[in-house]
Amino acid sequence: MLDGQLIGLPTETVYGLAGRGDDALAVESIFAAKGRPHHNPLILHVADASDARQWLADDLGEVLQNRFSILQRYWPGPLTLIGPKHSRVLDQVTAGGSTVALRIPDHPVALALLNEMKRQHGIAVPVAAPSANLSNYVSPTTAAHVANGLGDRVSMILDGGPCRVGLESTIVFLGTPDTPPRVLRSGQIDAGDLADRLGEPVIGPQNRLPVVAPEPDTVAAPGQFAKHYSPHKPVALLPLGTQWIPKQGVLRIDFVADDDHDRSPAHWTFAADGRLETAAANLYRVLRDADASAYQRIEIVACPEMGIGIAIMDRLRRSAS
Ligand code: TXA
Ligand code: MG
Repeated sequence: MLDGQLIGLPTETVYGLAGRGDDALAVESIFAAKGRPHHNPLILHVADASDARQWLADDLGEVLQNRFSILQRYWPGPLTLIGPKHSRVLDQVTAGGSTVALRIPDHPVALALLNEMKRQHGIAVPVAAPSANLSNYVSPTTAAHVANGLGDRVSMILDGGPCRVGLESTIVFLGTPDTPPRVLRSGQIDAGDLADRLGEPVIGPQNRLPVVAPEPDTVAAPGQFAKHYSPHKPVALLPLGTQWIPKQGVLRIDFVADDDHDRSPAHWTFAADGRLETAAANLYRVLRDADASAYQRIEIVACPEMGIGIAIMDRLRRSAS
């Protein structure tokens, strides 16, 4: 990887398509491999919080520095922090914007890779890694998912097993001295957790808003384009409690298994144990399996929007749009 090649990298959230974040050619090849538009910036992955800090502006000011110091305690973990970038961050990484996104993944393989690159190179090497799927398709949560979509575009895939969280990291913009921090993408860590930790209000994710392309240099997360995470087959999202009726060519997926599941192969579940955490961990694998199945359409029943259910519903709305 130090020579600029791309690899498939396991993290606790989803697999990343990883390349050197300080090498413009490697970064360009990430965009090319995914078919990702150049206005959509990348997250830099680092081994520890002091490495993260050096990619942020030298002087963050007291308010942002304090928020960063508190929120970095979630690391390693499924949280991405966005703040004013250091001038050394490549424009290709930030899509020309003035902020940079940073995260320390909580996965032994990812951490070992980041530390080994640092050891071999003598100084920390930031790793740019978007989810390792073709642009707009469902994110990968196993090494096989990466191989299916991008197998011929990476030099190697590190198999770290199925991802524990299964949904992308929560993205938080640190805000400005005059405005609160804001969640730009929901994830396992929710706005309430963050507000408790910070001891100040945090603006929650705007899950229900139809989303528009961000102005250059604004903080809207471009991942908030409405269409995203989409299977090729049409997906319909049904209200909680919708009865199951068998329909020709239609696959139905519920969150919790009920008695009907034993009777029909066309009735699946995201979580046999009924837990939202399990549903999150299985979500993308089940969507990919549904896409590869013989059914023509997919109907999914909504889950309760609490805890990680907020992030699950965010992803499902996008996959259905
Ligand atoms: O869990 C994750 O975050 C995974 C793993 C591999 O770490 N990565 C991931 O990357 O989900 P990606 O590129 O698929 O999604 C990153 C999101 C995109 O929606 C991007 O627009 C947004 O982060 N983003 C990155 N830098 C940003 C910035 N400076 N300002 C606003 N949004 C940013
Ligand atoms: Mg992605």
